[in-house]
Amino acid sequence: MTRHFLADDDLSPAEQAEVLDLAARLKADRFAQRPLEGPRAVAVLFDKPSTRTRVSFSTGIAELGGFPLVLEAAGSQLGRGETEADTARVLERQVAAIVWRTFEQARLERMAAVSRVPVVNALTDEFHPCQVLADLQTVRERRGSLAGATLTYLGDGANNMAHSYALGGAVAGLHVRIAAPASAQPDPAVITRARAVAAATGGSVTVTDDAAAAAEGVDVLATDTWVSMGQEDDPVRTAAFAPYALDEAAVARAAGDVVVLHCLPAYRGKEISAAVLDGPNSAVWDEAENRLHAQKALLVWLLARNGVE
Ligand code: CP
Ligand code: NVA
Repeated sequence: MTRHFLADDDLSPAEQAEVLDLAARLKADRFAQRPLEGPRAVAVLFDKPSTRTRVSFSTGIAELGGFPLVLEAAGSQLGRGETEADTARVLERQVAAIVWRTFEQARLERMAAVSRVPVVNALTDEFHPCQVLADLQTVRERRGSLAGATLTYLGDGANNMAHSYALGGAVAGLHVRIAAPASAQPDPAVITRARAVAAATGGSVTVTDDAAAAAEGVDVLATDTWVSMGQEDDPVRTAAFAPYALDEAAVARAAGDVVVLHCLPAYRGKEISAAVLDGPNSAVWDEAENRLHAQKALLVWLLARNGVE
């Protein structure tokens, strides 16, 4: 069975730890693994804009000895209605893996359902699991370990980052708190799924609308844009988010050495203050760099399970 990475819990706790260990090794020695030597191609498809994901997958695939075949989905037949399954059947005969940033998770699932090469979620409306792998690597670097640490996410609780923090954090054994307005709470099905994972890892997942209480004494504070790709900038919707800004007051409530995360791009003065984003607790530039290392490790791990070593 081909292994895919469509959502954070597609890796078991032990497998996630294995990938994070490998990410640390690849950060220390960037060219230690060359499974794509040849070069073998990896297709990287985009239905939405990207800076970090595009650069980190392209660079990472090249560093693994491979060729990043970056396609704008709008410029491919996928953008004109060719099915995911037919696209997968064409790609899998030529590339070693498929990385795709798109809208509905169901599209990715349809691709993975027929693909004999690994399919990787490079962000959907529902999840951004590669980002959370990089975030976990960053927290591990700063704190030395993950299990038992507390992570509070403030802001749009209904978006891909909130869902991936809940699910990926649960896999890592974190105590995840999502603080969001009533109008933007996480998908209950994702929270149920994350809690089932947390029950096995010793973590926990709580959802609240009390931003101040959620930040109290916490080890990691995270946020994300209030307007995700594909959403209209709706001033009424975003007005409800103001109390959930990751600002100096939130940092003051957290642990003294709190690690501040933001997947970027950031909007200073909206979901995060400039003082916090550019301040001493911010780990956002390491976090952005770790996309490269975490995704290389993920690809090496998935490819090895698909006979590419
Ligand atoms: N964090 C992230 O995925 O950034 P891009 O949208 O620039 O890829
Ligand atoms: N929630 C954001 C993440 C961007 C990397 C979005 O989907 O636009």
